Amino acid sequence: MDKLVSLAKRRGFVFQSSEVYGGLGSVWDYGPLGVELKRNVKDRWWRSLVHARDDIEGLDAAILMHPKVWEASGHVAGFTDPMVDCRTCKGRFRADKLADAKCAQKPSKIPGEHTACDLTEPRLFNLMFKTFMGPVEDTAAVVYLRPETAQGIYVNYLNVLNSSRQKIPFGIAQIGKAFRNEITPGNFIFRTREFEQMEMQFFVRPGSDMEWFEQWRAIRMQWHLDLGLTPSKLRWHEHGPGELAHYAKAAYDIEYEFSFGWQEIEGVHNRGDFDLGRHQEHSGKKLEYFEQASGERYLPYIVETSAGADRVTLTVMADAYREEEVEGEVRVVLGFHPAIAPMKAAVLPLTKKDGLPEVADALYHDLKRRVPTFYDDGGAIGRRYRRQDEIGTPWCFTVDHDTLVDRTVTVRHRDSMQQERIGLDQVVAWVAARLEE
Ligand code: GAP
Repeated sequence: MDKLVSLAKRRGFVFQSSEVYGGLGSVWDYGPLGVELKRNVKDRWWRSLVHARDDIEGLDAAILMHPKVWEASGHVAGFTDPMVDCRTCKGRFRADKLADAKCAQKPSKIPGEHTACDLTEPRLFNLMFKTFMGPVEDTAAVVYLRPETAQGIYVNYLNVLNSSRQKIPFGIAQIGKAFRNEITPGNFIFRTREFEQMEMQFFVRPGSDMEWFEQWRAIRMQWHLDLGLTPSKLRWHEHGPGELAHYAKAAYDIEYEFSFGWQEIEGVHNRGDFDLGRHQEHSGKKLEYFEQASGERYLPYIVETSAGADRVTLTVMADAYREEEVEGEVRVVLGFHPAIAPMKAAVLPLTKKDGLPEVADALYHDLKRRVPTFYDDGGAIGRRYRRQDEIGTPWCFTVDHDTLVDRTVTVRHRDSMQQERIGLDQVVAWVAARLEE
């Protein structure tokens, strides 16, 4: 992880937020390559759910919502972690994760184990960020930064249903920011206080929910496999009765094996009619669905798939990172699936003279109009290949003196390092064809 964090900063994937001021705890900014990578992850998710299917619509709800939403959803009362405070070092720790924590006393130990530790009883701590809307900072003006995007979907479900041609079963998908005042954030962009979720809520007839739940489990696992993640590093974790969130009837996590252990990257939840039932009760508005075929009215059940865009981005980076020994030197490679690689191609003129830069420049602009492409004319060609390996560029196109004679270029493949010649005028179609594979 240390190597990945250092590479991420050096090559412009992820920077610490407000670094010049010493950084802001567990908040991160995406640099030029990181923003491309994360956007590719989100686009792939969106395309697979909203564009490729007939039964899912997209939505972009606001972050700020009526405060009653969070009372109805159970977040005001229930979105809490049990915390203990140390009266000596003023540290605050999750009561259920004490064994993973370290206290500030030296030598550092598990909180409570040092003679100087003086821990309080566990107290519940709400994870929602609170702020005030309008000029007056009183309780009537409190609003929350949403801790999940899902609620924006529930309160809009009838709007979407009535304005589209959907019938139940159908889904609504949304990608957006969420905020949680996590007490034990960490592991780089794995657990942060500001993050993005990719959530899809599928509305189904009660009774068909477990069948849809199983279908969605299979679809979501396949999506991660199609990203190119190592199959043996993915597994399911079923939530036992003590683990289920307040809204869930059944829940499974997709877990990935990071260097810091197996961790959740996506949750698939059967939320039953908990959410629509609560919003119906708290708003006083009927949220039932009228099924024309049967003439019945019912509150749909909801099957949710909820993934973190930052967490999946970290997962693809961690999974792609490898070091290999090549001719006595270490080669660092980010072996991304080409579809999510931030740069798809690099154009490298072998030398800066003899007319090679002109040909390379034309090819570069031709490619760049279609896909993110890098131009590099500095240093030995081997070094330039290594620089592209490190950021995961699948293909480098080298323009050399033969190009001027036979109008061909060398394609150098990132993973195998093999090279082949193709026609200069075939390059754009060659890349497009491989990106479709
Ligand atoms: N709507 C259901 C929900 O929010 P969750 O299990 O709390 O469920 C879903 O979160 C996903 O959101 C997680 O699997 C994870 O990928 C991402 N996530 C949650 N908290 C996060 C955090 N503090 N930092 C980054 N990602 C987070």
